[in-house]
Amino acid sequence: SGVDRLGDLIAAARTIVPFTGAGISTECGIPDFRSPGGLWTRNRPIPFDEFVASQEARDEAWRRRFAMEPTFAAAKPGRGHRALASLYRAGKAPAVITQNIDNLHQASGFAADHVIELHGNTTYARCIGCGETYQLDWVKQQFDADGAAPDCTLCAEPVKTATISFGQAMPEDAMQRATELAQQCDLFIAIGSSLVVWPAAGFPVMAKNCGARLVIINREPTEQDDIADLVIHHDIGETLGPFVGN
Ligand code: OAD
Ligand code: ZN
Repeated sequence: SGVDRLGDLIAAARTIVPFTGAGISTECGIPDFRSPGGLWTRNRPIPFDEFVASQEARDEAWRRRFAMEPTFAAAKPGRGHRALASLYRAGKAPAVITQNIDNLHQASGFAADHVIELHGNTTYARCIGCGETYQLDWVKQQFDADGAAPDCTLCAEPVKTATISFGQAMPEDAMQRATELAQQCDLFIAIGSSLVVWPAAGFPVMAKNCGARLVIINREPTEQDDIADLVIHHDIGETLGPFVGN
């Protein structure tokens, strides 16, 4: 079966790099983006240039974020996160590359420095001008007091969740480290991503081109299934559950 072949590939690998998308967190209660009921099927994404240009767009972005807070606050690592943390603790996976912003890899036991966040993190906020960080509680207090999304107290530029929006520059350090990991691993496992958002979706291709075996675990087909060595179209928790605690 797919799980047996995955087990063989994991056992044979020296350096495994997991690469995750929103599908690994759906069993934790966090919706993905493109499935029925996903975030982008309900809301249009707010591009970065709109966020910068419009107070209304900033207010809307923060209203959406506050509405999601109970979901993020309640979410605990799932079987997929725990299986990857087991590979990390065993010394098989040096780090995880993620498109996710939910902090669940850190919560599962990865050191923060070993979670390569391509699209940032939604559990805190950052000034888009000077980079000053803010707690979400502070943003909420300001929003409630003024009825509007706050600006930075240091430089007066807008404060945004520490995530990457469409049209916003990718984090250079994360891109650099993900590149090195993709080039150096011998097994790359893409988990729970539709693999349609670039440049993130370039890392499985890069790993494959550099000689790694490529495994894709995703309920639905992806655009990169044809270059993978193993494709498992199955639930992530059920597929990776057997690797928790190994
Ligand atoms: P998507 O919503 O595009 O894809 C998630 C994939 O996970 C889908 O193909 C689902 O079928 C699959 N899936 C969901 N739950 C699953 C489960 N329990 N078992 C197996 N498969 C499951 O999410 P991403 O690929 O992560 O970026 O999206 C990439 C980027 O698009 C995000 O990082 C975000 C978004 O716009 C930005 O906002 C910049
Ligand atoms: Zn600032």
